[in-house]
Amino acid sequence: MNLRQVFVSVLMFGVAGLLLFMYLQAWIEEQHTVSGEELQQQIINQDFKLPPPGETRRAAQNRSAPAGLSKQETAASGGRHSQGKADPFGVVAVSLASQLPDQQKMTESFLNQFREVYLPPAMRPLNKSLIKGDKWKDVDGAQEKRRSFLYGFCKKHNSRKKLRTHLVHVVSRIYVEDRHKILYCEVPKAGCSNWKRVLMVLNGLAASAHNISHDDVHYGKHLKKLDSYDLKGIYTRLNTYTKTIFVRDPMERLVSAFRDKFEHPNSYYHPVFGKAIIKKYRQNANEEALKTGSGVKFKEFIQYLLDYHRPVGMDIHWEQVSKLCYPCLINYDFIGKFETLEEDADYFLQLVGAPAELKFPNFKDRHSSDERTNAEVVRQYLKELSKQERQLTYDFYYLDYLMFNYTSPVV
Ligand SMILES: *[C@@H]1O[C@H](CO)[C@@H](O)[C@H](O)[C@H]1NC(C)=O
Ligand SMILES: *[C@@H]1O[C@H](CO)[C@@H](O)[C@H](O)[C@H]1NC(C)=O
Ligand SMILES: *[C@@H]1O[C@H](CO)[C@@H](O)[C@H](O)[C@H]1NC(C)=O
Ligand SMILES: *[C@@H]1O[C@H](CO)[C@@H](O)[C@H](O)[C@H]1NC(C)=O
Repeated sequence: MNLRQVFVSVLMFGVAGLLLFMYLQAWIEEQHTVSGEELQQQIINQDFKLPPPGETRRAAQNRSAPAGLSKQETAASGGRHSQGKADPFGVVAVSLASQLPDQQKMTESFLNQFREVYLPPAMRPLNKSLIKGDKWKDVDGAQEKRRSFLYGFCKKHNSRKKLRTHLVHVVSRIYVEDRHKILYCEVPKAGCSNWKRVLMVLNGLAASAHNISHDDVHYGKHLKKLDSYDLKGIYTRLNTYTKTIFVRDPMERLVSAFRDKFEHPNSYYHPVFGKAIIKKYRQNANEEALKTGSGVKFKEFIQYLLDYHRPVGMDIHWEQVSKLCYPCLINYDFIGKFETLEEDADYFLQLVGAPAELKFPNFKDRHSSDERTNAEVVRQYLKELSKQERQLTYDFYYLDYLMFNYTSPVV
């Protein structure tokens, strides 16, 4: 063989090896990954097997909560490592491999998948040393009830189920404020823009919450997310910071998201979601609607939401809180509600020692002339749905209803 032949054969072997490696990687990936869609389907089909319309809420609770919770959270782990010995409530075993960038994951995950980190189960008492007088007595009373309610719920339905999931995924929606040691899990349509403004002020990134534009809040990338820290950084903060989540009645949140994204011009939601929704669910759609994706009706949006084969994925604005913030894993210290947003928020700010002059802003920064989405507005939208669609929509947000003690809308 001359030098050229040697060179060519080495090259060919190299290419063949590379192809084989890529093929194997893709194959392994396939074996281990459950997509968001599959997950959704599992949840809808198996666990949230829907109570026949009209069945009472209580019966529905009996039927699906426990299985739903554990299945959902097992599924959230991407289908991986689901075997494991029994563990007390809230224990999260996290594969260190989840820390690695994707390219490294495939090889290193095999080495690392048995190394785990634990988040100890706990309902820590709130540190109320900064609260003076009894001005906050009622707010605090409601807070304690919510905390123990959620703890009780999680304990009841999540017991002895070892969850191994990617810590980085579990904490990916949590914002960090290091000065006052706050972790805030973002739930869109439940006051999150104003929360981020407040956190930016607390963190010294802005002088006043009233002076930060909507775009700056959401696209400025000023606040750090918890998943941007290393494992130790994440772990330490989870164990020492005050963790909070603010939630909202699931149906109000849904209608609010719909109004915000589809009833106003939007250069992302119309072309990406609107087009796909109109194409699939509207008979005889006209050319204009198909082209712009504008004018989606609430009923069409719900058809998309409940579709087994959704033409386009989920979005954080209508994703369930149980999947955005993992309330049964993170042991949130403080549970605020949109329905009592300002008093909850101001009480929280006192607890963490925020400057006395900082008050939670009460403005609505987008479409401020629209009526706020309230129970009456929701009722009007729900009228567009069939009884069965209302029931299925309720079932879709079933865990959110249960975890935060929201009552079922009249379905
Ligand atoms: C729900 O379950 C409890 C015990 O698990 C039972 O006592 C109750 O009757 C059930 N309720 C309904 C409506 O099935
Ligand atoms: C409660 O908070 C105060 C003020 O921030 C702090 O000095 C104290 O150590 C905290 N107590 C506990 C038990 O963490
Ligand atoms: C708001 O920001 C602008 C410029 O970014 C500044 O000129 C103005 O003084 C600020 N207002 C307040 C109330 O901080
Ligand atoms: C749950 O909600 C019901 C109805 O709104 C209320 O009566 C009850 O006190 C709440 N329970 C807790 C623990 O907050």
